[in-house]
Amino acid sequence: MLGITRNRPQPRAGMDYADSRQKNNFIGKIIFAAVLTAICVIVLRQSSGYGSTSVFSRHEAGITHILVTGGAGYIGSHASLRLLKDSYRVTIVDNLSRGNLGAVKVLQQQFPEPGRLQFIYADLGDAKAVNKIFAENAFDAVMHFAAVAYVGESTLEPLRYYHNITSNTLLLLEAMAAHNVKTLIYSSTCATYGEPEKMPITEETPQVPINPYGKAKKMAEDIILDFSRNSDMAVMILRYFNVIGSDPEGRLGEAPRPELREQGRISGACFDAALGIIPGLKVKGTDYKTPDGTCVRDYIDVTDLVDAHVKALAKARPSKVGIYNVGTGKGRSVKEFVEACKKATSVNIQVEFLSRRPGDYAEVYSDPSKIRRELNWTAQYTDLQESLQTAWRWQKSHKNGYGSPL
Ligand SMILES: NC(=O)c1ccc[n+]([C@@H]2O[C@H](COP(=O)([O-])OP(=O)(O)OC[C@H]3O[C@@H](n4cnc5c(N)ncnc54)[C@H](O)[C@@H]3O)[C@@H](O)[C@H]2O)c1
Repeated sequence: MLGITRNRPQPRAGMDYADSRQKNNFIGKIIFAAVLTAICVIVLRQSSGYGSTSVFSRHEAGITHILVTGGAGYIGSHASLRLLKDSYRVTIVDNLSRGNLGAVKVLQQQFPEPGRLQFIYADLGDAKAVNKIFAENAFDAVMHFAAVAYVGESTLEPLRYYHNITSNTLLLLEAMAAHNVKTLIYSSTCATYGEPEKMPITEETPQVPINPYGKAKKMAEDIILDFSRNSDMAVMILRYFNVIGSDPEGRLGEAPRPELREQGRISGACFDAALGIIPGLKVKGTDYKTPDGTCVRDYIDVTDLVDAHVKALAKARPSKVGIYNVGTGKGRSVKEFVEACKKATSVNIQVEFLSRRPGDYAEVYSDPSKIRRELNWTAQYTDLQESLQTAWRWQKSHKNGYGSPL
């Protein structure tokens, strides 16, 4: 259940770790976490009404019931929080391979009333389990976040990515069709574009993904598009750029499992450096054709991202497919990001500048005008330092993520 496979670090955006974390008592911690998780799962399954007749199994006038796959993860938990706040009924399905039961518990504490939130522990690759979930619940729409999502890992374990992303999306779509669930909001990524020559990236930019993660997402998109040609399903495909930040009220945060932190999401690496978990950062490449020579990316705050989902859901129409980039439209360099992180954390993070790493491309940023025009959405949280400050507050007060103090 717990993903304990360790892989070589696969950093992103011209930056990686200066050192690995201490791994003392690693196995002990994993066993402890596994036992704790198992106990919590049993408790949650008993409290959620899983498998029994409940309000979740009936459509109710005036209540929209959303299946959130991957709702124990970073973005899915933030989306669930927003949906619950907006009075949706939410069912989270997650296999906890990467997410945190602690995030689900926070949501349950926030919305304890019956009929608001249930958690179902299940693997989306298990067709029988998925069909049972659809048979026993009356969903109005699906937000499909669940996925493995590290570019570097995908190059080492491509089959895992095609299975988890492409094949599971197919399975989910089949279950939706079989059980007459008519709305899908799909989490896609700018990685489906590969290395476009022209910036900014529009929805018309050719999709030529260059790694198994991007390819698996593109294939999932293609399956959804082919299916939707002869179906009245309402589909929204959202292609996110680099997601940062956390709940401004400090209820949720980003808490990848310790063994995954080395995969190299830039904000995680900065926070780890600020916390002293790693000694500093290595920025790879200072001679790109960018204003300061370091790589440029488009960072989108998670609060804005979930807002885009809610707007997409509201505008989803039968037999129509909407495809949207979700970004700020503004590129920020790695140097800028590190400076913002230093200010946000008030820690003088040590930075080492090295030569380029093969495979990194100079600039990636979105043209978000389509989503602005059609969904009336624009990024509001565009101050990098503020987004990082919010995330840092949560990181500082949750040094062990959602877990108990191991
Ligand atoms: N974080 C980003 O910067 C980013 C950028 C672009 C796209 N995305 C996409 O957004 C989505 C969410 O990403 P995230 O950053 O929240 O990742 P995450 O790892 O925090 O969350 C993913 C969740 O899916 C669950 N999951 C994975 N495989 C599952 C399976 N087979 N069955 C049930 N649950 C499963 C995990 O346990 C986890 O809780 C993904 O589809 C990802 O590809 C993320």
